[in-house]
Amino acid sequence: MNILFLDQSGKLGGAELSLIDVASAFGDRCLVGLFADGPFRQALEQHEIPVKVLTDQPLLVHRNSSFWQSLKSLRQIVRLVGKIVRLSQDFDLVYANTQKAFVLSAIASLFTHHPLVYHLRDILSPEHFSQTNLSLAIWLANHFATLVIANSQATKQAFIEAGGRAEIVKVVYNGFEPASYRVPLSTSSELRQQLNLDNRFVIGHFSRLSPWKGQHILLEALTHCPDNVVALFVGDALFGEQEYVEQLHHQVTESRLSDRVRFLGFRSDVPQLMTMCDLVAHTSTVPEPFGRVIVEAMLCDTPIVAAAAGGVVELIEPGKTGWLAPPGDALKLADVIHQCRRRPEQTSTIAHRAKLKATQCFQLAHTNQQIAALLNTIVKPCSSGFEPTRMDMTKQ
Ligand code: UDP
Ligand code: GLC
Repeated sequence: MNILFLDQSGKLGGAELSLIDVASAFGDRCLVGLFADGPFRQALEQHEIPVKVLTDQPLLVHRNSSFWQSLKSLRQIVRLVGKIVRLSQDFDLVYANTQKAFVLSAIASLFTHHPLVYHLRDILSPEHFSQTNLSLAIWLANHFATLVIANSQATKQAFIEAGGRAEIVKVVYNGFEPASYRVPLSTSSELRQQLNLDNRFVIGHFSRLSPWKGQHILLEALTHCPDNVVALFVGDALFGEQEYVEQLHHQVTESRLSDRVRFLGFRSDVPQLMTMCDLVAHTSTVPEPFGRVIVEAMLCDTPIVAAAAGGVVELIEPGKTGWLAPPGDALKLADVIHQCRRRPEQTSTIAHRAKLKATQCFQLAHTNQQIAALLNTIVKPCSSGFEPTRMDMTKQ
């Protein structure tokens, strides 16, 4: 089966890191088409996954764009749709990994009649999207998607509640390679020394800097903790959230936290950094669709506390494999931090159990098998390989 994957971003967000894992399974039987150049293209090349940047101008439509703003980008959209139509001639199916990629692929499918898969990684709710974008995504999915792969039950539920057809959506969790998260103790203690963190209780936060990822909540929690509790923020503002970054730095100064907070920017040694931490905090203020960082912390054997909303509650059993705090509740977060410091043995038992659970439940091999099985139901094998057919998922 030959697949044309499409993604709107050139940056390395969770959706893109996950696509590298999915596309790797198809090797040179796929092409990843991007709507922007950047580190994602380089990462795909490093993994020897065929990639092509389809435009040299960034798409101007945003998550909260109005209908009129969207119309202004019409010329650019028409050009991209044309490219998708031409490219898809060589493939059995089109697999859209992000919302804009899906919208454009849906329009293209009017001309190509290829099966269209939408890997839905967003919670389609007014908290995340403008009403226009929301309605458009649902309408197009109901009319043009052969299959919607949701990254969690929460994502699936939100899709259905927004009017999406239940019979076309299947849940497949992100998968991980547990071996990539096995870090020698010597490496993490060296890293701790390099960063001058010995004798500190280190809380790691691994997310792009963005208001809804809630880095400010961890800063607030820190003001309720003793001075030897410090925070590392790993990640960058990927989508122009410069104002929020300034706000965070201001909060650090105002709360006199300069000695207890580090911003490390985007890093490619997340497993090493996570293993070095005493606790990983996830603080999204709106429902997180899945939350790769949560499973990654579990695989690193590092205790995790996360914001109890969206897909997160499917990943953590509170008190057994981690802790949950209500989104935006800095006091509850501080309370969990105290508990972890006070009861190190109980904390590491929970972390070990979480590692075991993550290793059993989020294997990349299993995720890729699930995706392959779903794709096989919509592209019928024929004598010369695979024959694309548009099948109604309701009939299976
Ligand atoms: N990540 C990374 N370097 C960083 C910060 C984050 O590689 O400096 C990775 C992180 O390990 C995770 C992904 O980015 O795999 C973020 O995915 P997640 O699902 O947690 O959130 P998203 O950003 O996709 O909403
Ligand atoms: C999106 C979501 C994130 C999820 C990732 C991978 O970026 O925001 O929660 O983990 O996709 O599916």
